[in-house]
Amino acid sequence: MSKPDYPIRTERLLLRPFTPDDHADLHAYQSLPEVVRYLYGGPRTPEETTDNLKLKMSVTWPEKEGDNLSLAVVHGGRVIGEAVLKYLSEAYRQGEIGYIFHPDHHGRGFATEASRAMLDLGFDHLGLHRIVASCDAHNDKSWHVMERLGMRREAHFRHHEIFKGEWGEEFIYAILEDEWRAARS
Ligand SMILES: CC(C)(COP(=O)(O)OP(=O)(O)OC[C@H]1O[C@@H](n2cnc3c(N)ncnc32)[C@H](O)[C@@H]1OP(=O)(O)O)[C@@H](O)C(=O)NCCC(=O)NCCS
Repeated sequence: MSKPDYPIRTERLLLRPFTPDDHADLHAYQSLPEVVRYLYGGPRTPEETTDNLKLKMSVTWPEKEGDNLSLAVVHGGRVIGEAVLKYLSEAYRQGEIGYIFHPDHHGRGFATEASRAMLDLGFDHLGLHRIVASCDAHNDKSWHVMERLGMRREAHFRHHEIFKGEWGEEFIYAILEDEWRAARS
């Protein structure tokens, strides 16, 4: 396991831990109903964003199982979204990625670009064997990102929970380390 040097640079983005100065940019998207439509919870109040920011800043690298690394994705000097890597299992070297972006920055491939860096972190730095991602089956934009990343759809859960007052549908996608290395080479 080797913690990366921040910021991580991709072709168009910088990824780095959140700082207290990021509150305004974070709140700009966490407060939007369209952004949280398929996420647990509703639009955040400024106080809820403050609490969430503290939580994000408390993990700068997933040292142990259960840790949730959330990196700020910076473009043009602003935080335009976040890319997430959760350490699900040490014993079985399993992780999970996620992503949330401000709508002003959708449709340019930024979520895919940032998520590629998170898969690199998971496989190259954390030594994971398998990384999953999940989304509401109606969240087309989200599972399109997973498919662009070369992840395979492993499951479609139907009516597995009540989500925002209705029966939920969930897709689970995954990619193995050797599949990622083959796709990258
Ligand atoms: C999920 C989410 C991050 C996807 O964002 P996105 O901008 O659609 O995804 P990408 O960054 O991969 O961009 C892909 C789009 O950019 C276009 N694009 C433009 N340049 C591109 C490039 N260089 N590389 C890849 N795609 C590019 C693609 O054609 C695609 O457009 P399309 O949707 O019209 O087909 C966004 O919808 C979001 O933040 N939603 C709210 C939070 C959320 O639901 N998160 C997921 C929870 S599971």
